[in-house]
Amino acid sequence: METSKMDRTIRIGALISGTGTNLQAIIDSCESGKINGQIVFVGSDNPNAPGLEKGTRLGIPTFVVDYKSIIQHFKNTPENVVPPDDFDLNDLLSKQTLFTAHADTETAKTFIITRAVAEAKLIDAMKHYPFDLLVLAGYMRNLSPYFIDRVNTDSDIPRIMNIHPALLPAFPGVDGYGDTFRYGCKIGGCTVHFVDYGEDSGPIIGQNAYEILEEDTLDSIRAKGLKLEWALYPECVKLFAQGRLKTVRMSYPLKNGKKMERTVVRILPSPEA
Ligand code: GRF
Repeated sequence: METSKMDRTIRIGALISGTGTNLQAIIDSCESGKINGQIVFVGSDNPNAPGLEKGTRLGIPTFVVDYKSIIQHFKNTPENVVPPDDFDLNDLLSKQTLFTAHADTETAKTFIITRAVAEAKLIDAMKHYPFDLLVLAGYMRNLSPYFIDRVNTDSDIPRIMNIHPALLPAFPGVDGYGDTFRYGCKIGGCTVHFVDYGEDSGPIIGQNAYEILEEDTLDSIRAKGLKLEWALYPECVKLFAQGRLKTVRMSYPLKNGKKMERTVVRILPSPEA
């Protein structure tokens, strides 16, 4: 399984929910030539995301799919919310790993239906701007298999990346810095990974770590972490643009006779090396 080698400028789509400082770091790296790439759209689930302005200021197309109102609509009148034509609830429920088999199926169903409605709108907006890579840059929504399968049209070539503010697999979820701090970790960090059907569980591309000292606060570790994020994310996008990310399915025998299977990322050597 291999990402194709690219010798052209890659087209990068971005989804954000907030301030978009990671988006800015990627834009800067494209402008400076560090990444051979170009941002072709900025989408958001949040009409008030301050980061949208970064796109408009630079003449990058932007769009919003207001998830909140879709979820509210479903809560008020579920019978009026019509899933997309190509929606298959059972297929999506069987693929997703966000909810365990023991989870309340109504919660899982509501999640899948509302997300598929929102994601179909995202896909509709995105189809005007063909892209090679989709970066989630502070996008605070889990994507369902409905969306992931329609972006990763070749299942061997993942092309959705995310940045997470913790050293995965520790502390997946919405508050990576808070969780790291409150746990009393002595080291924190950030992770860039490909997106799979779970929560922050996809193949890891890169990680960076910082030390947590006695005098640190949640704010100070967030500041340390963000600084690392702004360096790490462009670095990983650059590797993608160079066609140097290869996903490999690994199988490891365990002492108990079972096997651990995991898709991992191999970083191919630089062509200049
Ligand atoms: C970052 O810490 C990112 O890791 C997390 O949300 C934050 C977004 O920051 N997912 P920004 O919007 O890029 O400034």
